[in-house]
Amino acid sequence: MRKKIIAGNWKMNTNMQEALALASEVIHIAQDEVPSSVTLIMSTPFIYLNTIKKLISEGKNIYVGAQNCHTETSGAFTGEISAPMLQSIGIEYVIVGHSERREYFQENNAQLAKKVDLLISYGMIPIFCCGESLDIRKAGTHLEFVKNQLTESLFHLSAQDFEKIVIAYEPIWAIGTGETASSAQAQEMHQALRNHIADKYTKIVADKISILYGGSMKPNNAAELLAEADVDGGLIGGASLKSREFIDIAKSYPG
Ligand code: PGA
Repeated sequence: MRKKIIAGNWKMNTNMQEALALASEVIHIAQDEVPSSVTLIMSTPFIYLNTIKKLISEGKNIYVGAQNCHTETSGAFTGEISAPMLQSIGIEYVIVGHSERREYFQENNAQLAKKVDLLISYGMIPIFCCGESLDIRKAGTHLEFVKNQLTESLFHLSAQDFEKIVIAYEPIWAIGTGETASSAQAQEMHQALRNHIADKYTKIVADKISILYGGSMKPNNAAELLAEADVDGGLIGGASLKSREFIDIAKSYPG
């Protein structure tokens, strides 16, 4: 059984008071409503991580995650946050290579490979984002494009380390646009990625990897997406800022 993961990506939203209120609501409602088989992650801005982490009691399947880390462990990189810093406050999940980082901060596949290596070496789980632009989708080369993102950033890993990765497929044209990939489009890509992993490693390894879908996932489309055989969870932007919507997505797994 692959891990079911619903990860919120708060991006650069909320002030401290709003962050505390949102996290408290999610933790409180999840306790009553979300099955313990679903892992919930709230990827908050860095400055709230430590405070929110302390709100979560031991043994709950809820985590705070970071949205990024630097490629180096320390040094003269004013304003940056490193993997060992995150490890030192007990962070377990870190988003890597979100399309906004790739687009606005020029992050490339080689740098992301370094971040993935660092996170694994510090015992954290990278949530590796991949996904194509609308132009690439229209050109019909999306499967090759996204498979190549995995090849260049992840396929240097040993099978043992690869098994620690979570993948998030986020078609850029669906992020924050209200337009979602259809469940068939998501399944096609997720299956292609799983086959790609099986070709490089083994089917056993590929079958262990949780592949999340991201891009305007909402309570009204989550059930259909999560019902697909290779869609194991979601990476949620906008809807993760509303506790009710976030929890309703986490309750949308079939059966
Ligand atoms: P969205 O964002 O749910 O607001 O489309 C998803 C993401 O960017 O991770």
